[in-house]
Amino acid sequence: MPTTILVAGGAGYIGSHTVKYLLKNNYNVVVVDNLVYGHKEAVLTPNFEQIDLADKSALDRVFKKYKIDAVIHFAAFTYVGESVVDPKKYYWNNVVNTLNLLDVMIENNVKNIVFSSTCATYGNPQYTPLDENHPQNPINPYGKTKLMMEQIMADYEEAYGLKYAALRYFNAAGADFQGELGECHDPETHLIPIVLKAIKGDIPNIKVFGTDYDTPDGTCIRDYIHVEDLADAHMLALEKIFKDNKSIHINLGTGIGTSVKEIIQAAEEVTGQKVPLVYVGRREGDPAILYASNNKAKELLNWTTKYMDIKEIIKTAWLWEKGDKFKSNKDYLTVN
Ligand SMILES: NC(=O)c1ccc[n+]([C@@H]2O[C@H](COP(=O)([O-])OP(=O)(O)OC[C@H]3O[C@@H](n4cnc5c(N)ncnc54)[C@H](O)[C@@H]3O)[C@@H](O)[C@H]2O)c1
Repeated sequence: MPTTILVAGGAGYIGSHTVKYLLKNNYNVVVVDNLVYGHKEAVLTPNFEQIDLADKSALDRVFKKYKIDAVIHFAAFTYVGESVVDPKKYYWNNVVNTLNLLDVMIENNVKNIVFSSTCATYGNPQYTPLDENHPQNPINPYGKTKLMMEQIMADYEEAYGLKYAALRYFNAAGADFQGELGECHDPETHLIPIVLKAIKGDIPNIKVFGTDYDTPDGTCIRDYIHVEDLADAHMLALEKIFKDNKSIHINLGTGIGTSVKEIIQAAEEVTGQKVPLVYVGRREGDPAILYASNNKAKELLNWTTKYMDIKEIIKTAWLWEKGDKFKSNKDYLTVN
C-alpha cells in the first residue's frame, strides 16, 4: 500500500477534507497547491508546498524530497460558466498542467493516481440514474477537460503502465463534522452554501433558475454527496487500484435526487429561518434531473455513504457557515 500521498489541490474544498481523512487513517500526506483558489489555513499537514502544477521542476523536487508513492489530484479550475467564456484557461490548467503532473509521476516511477472527474462528463442525461456506461458527451469545456484527462490516462495506462481511478463526482456538499473545514469558494456557485449565505444575510437572496422543469416540484434535481463520503471513496479507490493494479471509473453520488425546492425547505428546517429567494427563468445548459447510480462504487470499493439525509448534510454546512472559518468549532454538537 502507498504510504506517502501527494494531494494536488489539497488546500481546496474536497482536497482539504480528503487530507484530513487520510491523516486520520495514518497516511503521510504532502499537499501541493498554488492557493489561487485554495486556503492555506485549510491544509492540515505540515508538508505543504505552494507550487503551481505548471512548474514541472518544482514538482519534480517535491516528488524527490518526500518520496511520493501515489497521487490524488484535485487541482483544477471548476467554474462551468467561466469555462464557456474562457476555455483556454481551462484547457491549460485542467489538461496541460495535469499532463505535467503525469510526466513527473512517470519520471519518478509513481504509477497510481486518483483523479477528480465529474458527472459533467456525461452531458445531457439520456436516462437516470446515470451509471458509468452512460455515454460521455460533455456540453461545456469544463466537462470536456475532465473527459480528455480520462482518455489521456487510458492511453498512459497502455503505454506507461499508469493506474488510475477516475472518480466522477456529482454535487459535493457539506462540511467537516468537527467544524474545522468547509466549503469556501470565491465566487461561490454551489446551491447549499449560497442558500446558507442568503439566510445569514451575506447575500440578499438566492435565484431559483426555472420552476417549470419536468420534475415533481418543477425545480432541478441533483445528487448531493457529503464531502467526507467523497474523502472516504478517494482513500478506498487508491487502495483498490494499488491492490488490483487495474484502473477504474466510478460514479460518486448518494443515488438520491433532491430538488432545489427540497434543499431550500431542508435548509429552513435546519436553521429555523426563511430563505430569501427570487424565481427566475431557466439557466441554459441545466438538465432537469441528474443523479447517480452508485452500485459500482459500493461493489468495487465496498463503499457506503454515511450521509444519506440531506438535512444532516446541510447541518454540517450550516455549522461551518456560521462558525469561525478554519477554526475548530467545539460547540458543534450542541448547535441546531
Ligand atoms: N465541488 C464539486 O461539487 C465537484 C464536482 C465534481 C468534480 N469536482 C472536481 O473536484 C476537484 C476539487 O473541487 P473543489 O470544489 O474542491 O475545488 P477547489 O477550487 O476548492 O479546489 C481546487 C484546488 O486546486 C488548486 N489549484 C488549481 N489549479 C492549480 C494549479 N495549476 N496548481 C496548483 N494548485 C492548483 C486551487 O488553488 C484549489 O485549492 C476539481 O478538480 C473539480 O473539478 C468538484
